[in-house]
Amino acid sequence: MSTATRYTGLIEHYRDRMPVTADTRIISLGEGNTPLVRLENIPGAIGKDVELYVKYEGLNPTGSFKDRGMTMAVTRAVEEGSRAIICASTGNTSAAAAAYAARAGITAFVLIPEGKIALGKLAQAMIHGAVVIQIRGNFDAGMALVKEVADHAPVTIVNSINPYRLQGQKTAAFEIVDELGRAPDFHCLPVGNAGNITAHWIGYSEYAQHDSACVTTACAFCEGKCKFSGKSVTDKRPVMVGYQAAGSAPFMRGEMVDHPETVATAIRIGHPQSWDYAWKVKDESGGWFDECTDEEILAAQKLLTSREGIFCEPASATSVAGALRDIQSGKIPEGSSVVCTLTGHGLKDPDTAIKQCADTMLTVDAELGAVKDAILSNMS
Ligand code: F0G
Repeated sequence: MSTATRYTGLIEHYRDRMPVTADTRIISLGEGNTPLVRLENIPGAIGKDVELYVKYEGLNPTGSFKDRGMTMAVTRAVEEGSRAIICASTGNTSAAAAAYAARAGITAFVLIPEGKIALGKLAQAMIHGAVVIQIRGNFDAGMALVKEVADHAPVTIVNSINPYRLQGQKTAAFEIVDELGRAPDFHCLPVGNAGNITAHWIGYSEYAQHDSACVTTACAFCEGKCKFSGKSVTDKRPVMVGYQAAGSAPFMRGEMVDHPETVATAIRIGHPQSWDYAWKVKDESGGWFDECTDEEILAAQKLLTSREGIFCEPASATSVAGALRDIQSGKIPEGSSVVCTLTGHGLKDPDTAIKQCADTMLTVDAELGAVKDAILSNMS
């Protein structure tokens, strides 16, 4: 007899640590359980002996880590009787909101910055049937509008200010500890709105039986005191490192940025909603923030694709760009175990990928000699 159990998503998998009851109708697309891939070629190429992993969140159902939070937020919205959800988004949240709303049979309204979201994300929001509202403004303006409009219309906000989003996203930390048998020494993430770095810290803290108040004291679930104290899985939490795009780096500036710009459109955010939480995460974990230029971000994206076969979107590569720099400088010492979150799939943003390597495509006549020449002159 088969003993196989079907994986049915992260809420079921971590049910005893999630804010659901036995009666809750779970809205899931089988999210979570993403690969933790050990990099085999890059550490050697930079001459450093580190145990370097990427958590490939682009392999979630809609291609980003947002699915972890969205399954939980939409599950609770439906349970509470909501018929519509709303978010502002740089793209991935809107894709996830659209898909999970479709699954639940409710309406998704998404506000996106006109002309500034990657093509794949726009396609997702549209094909899943979300009401897509482009605004002539950036993500931060959209976020402010969503908060205002939710006071005037019967819609549930599913941005990461919704505490259930972070409860879903904390499971990425659980998976890493479950797989490694311990927390890594360092965990590196790209930071935009700063919800994900906060969610990871909640997850690591919950697994490490911390006695301090939950970092998200506003969390409706924990009510300020982590209810999982005493259910320890590991005794250690990682140092948390957040990397931002240089043109969009309020944590480096120490203040909000009004006109963020970066090729990594997913993190083109100047007014992070989880500002206070993220500073707490940095302080409690002994971590730091740093910034990467667009050139560094695109170079890291290319390095991952060409040396490891892993395709992530530009924003995701920010974690690797920053981590490699800190490994090279010794700030992250040799011998460390390091996890970088790759937040979204590379296929989300085909335009940026093609633009980076347009000159690598060969066009030849459709005849044997020409194709043979093309092969022989390009053998490595
Ligand atoms: N990476 C990707 C691919 C993202 O889409 C985002 C955020 C982040 C990193 C940053 O995560 O905001 O939790 O610090 N995207 C949001 C969106 C804002 O609307 O899709 P964060």
